[in-house]
Amino acid sequence: MEKRPFPTHVGIIMDGNGRWAKAHNVPRVMGHNAGMQSMKKIVIASSNLGVKYLTVYAFSTENWKRSTEEVNGIFNLIVKYVNSELEELDENNVHINIFGEYDMLPKASVDAIDKMVGRLHDNDGLVFNIALNYGGRDEILRSVKELARECAEEGRDPSELTEDDISAHLYSGSARFDVPDPDLIIRTSGEERMSNFLTWQAAYSELMFTDTLWPDFTPEEYREMLEAYADRDRRFGGRKEAK
Ligand code: IPE
Ligand code: IPE
Ligand code: MG
Repeated sequence: MEKRPFPTHVGIIMDGNGRWAKAHNVPRVMGHNAGMQSMKKIVIASSNLGVKYLTVYAFSTENWKRSTEEVNGIFNLIVKYVNSELEELDENNVHINIFGEYDMLPKASVDAIDKMVGRLHDNDGLVFNIALNYGGRDEILRSVKELARECAEEGRDPSELTEDDISAHLYSGSARFDVPDPDLIIRTSGEERMSNFLTWQAAYSELMFTDTLWPDFTPEEYREMLEAYADRDRRFGGRKEAK
């Protein structure tokens, strides 16, 4: 059988940092720190493996329910990530988009993100999307509100709206490089649910789950998953041999 290429766009729900911390008897924020080390490796691996778009779920609109200590710990890690990785990301020609409204984060985090996004703006290698204060339903709602405004103020006819119009107003559709729907979504830590990640875009994504906790996830396991993806038969509602 002819092998399919690796996925163009991979989404990752990076889950299991808390359980990793518990297993190692360390505070939760250390689990998030270990998760960030994993993410660094997977970003570079994606670039090396020829993945064109990588979207990671870093913080959901629901994660505000956690303790202030944990939430602030996660936001502080963003600043740390930018300070330690910016040069290497730039050397690897990585372009970054943030999916989500991040202006309510602490000022140091907002400044670090703006610096990173600005510095990498002209790069055209791996498109690395960080879903931060992101929720799939929230993203669809924003798109619909914007379309409703265009109908009311710019005379667009609501009956003519298409799926492409909704896509175009999502974070993925309004980024500098139009981001295609994810081919593959991976979730670590044994949970098998979407938790409000890329709700619109994941309509036809292949899903893969692993029991590995995110801080233990390696580029080797990632590569194996991409190889397994190549063996999947994507039908999109049709048939392989339309006879
Ligand atoms: C995922 O790890 C990271 C974020 C949600 C920010 P968790 O913190 O959810 O880890 P578990 O699920 O408690 O193990
Ligand atoms: C999803 O993980 C969000 C991120 C990985 C950032 P959660 O750990 O928050 O998801 P639930 O609550 O178990 O569904
Ligand atoms: Mg979790």
